Amino acid sequence: MNPMKNVVLFGATSAIASAAAREWVDTGARLFCVARDGEALEALLADLRVRGDDPDGTRILGATADLADIDGHAAIWQQAQEALGEVDSVLLAWGTLPDQATCNASVDETLEAIHVNGTSAIALLARIAPDFEARGRGVIAAIGSVAGDRGRQSNYAYGTAKGMLAIYLQGLRNRLFFSGVDVVTLKPGFVRTPMTEGFNRAGALWAEPETVARGIVRAMHRGRDVAYLPGKWWVIMTIIRLIPEYLFKRLKL
Ligand SMILES: NC(=O)c1ccc[n+]([C@@H]2O[C@H](COP(=O)([O-])OP(=O)(O)OC[C@H]3O[C@@H](n4cnc5c(N)ncnc54)[C@H](OP(=O)(O)O)[C@@H]3O)[C@@H](O)[C@H]2O)c1
Repeated sequence: MNPMKNVVLFGATSAIASAAAREWVDTGARLFCVARDGEALEALLADLRVRGDDPDGTRILGATADLADIDGHAAIWQQAQEALGEVDSVLLAWGTLPDQATCNASVDETLEAIHVNGTSAIALLARIAPDFEARGRGVIAAIGSVAGDRGRQSNYAYGTAKGMLAIYLQGLRNRLFFSGVDVVTLKPGFVRTPMTEGFNRAGALWAEPETVARGIVRAMHRGRDVAYLPGKWWVIMTIIRLIPEYLFKRLKL
């Protein structure tokens, strides 16, 4: 079991990550929250400090960063480590949901979607992995998506990025296993967050961010390899992956 006493959240103001932050605060963990939007970050930190009885902000800290800017990764990672001392847990949670029709009409939009959701996360993982490897313990987790399990015409730019991220995490898991570090791939299904506003979010396939966040904290605590969130998505995606391509391409999914 991973103790998760000093946790860094990248993309901390996301609905799912901030719900996870509340879970960690309740366990007494020390947090370093990284987010792009300074106002949203201050609001999150204020809320967490009230919740965690940390009025002076000695335990619950944070800083702003545009995480798509890879050149800034070294500095923000350094800042997080200096703030918390030994970091034992990291969650990568930022992302955007691009409009596939816009991507279809624009090479730049396609590459931007893949960069924000895929390449930039991989760059940060590559940056932090050697530090975990040297320490020989801890847990690294990143939020992928069920969309990364199979390319669909309706969101394959996003799916490509998340699929690439999942393969990278798989290889990193193999590598860090021998150093005693857990690497967790998180694959939520449909979640009611600002990212999916405007969708018809009724029905049993939709989950609340708090439910997914509890699953994330549990999966990281246990050092799971891959966690579908909620778990029923493992069944759904197993079936989806088994559909032969000659049929799948006709489904207009
Ligand atoms: N919602 C779903 O159905 C669903 C399903 C599967 C996976 N996911 C994944 O879950 C994660 C969390 O998403 P969410 O659903 O909680 O959505 P959300 O509430 O919309 O959060 C997305 C977060 O990503 C941040 N972000 C985007 N680009 C950034 C950048 N360049 N630098 C720093 N932060 C950036 C946003 O910050 P700003 O406020 O500054 O824009 C926002 O805080 C994402 O990786 C998403 O792909 C979501």
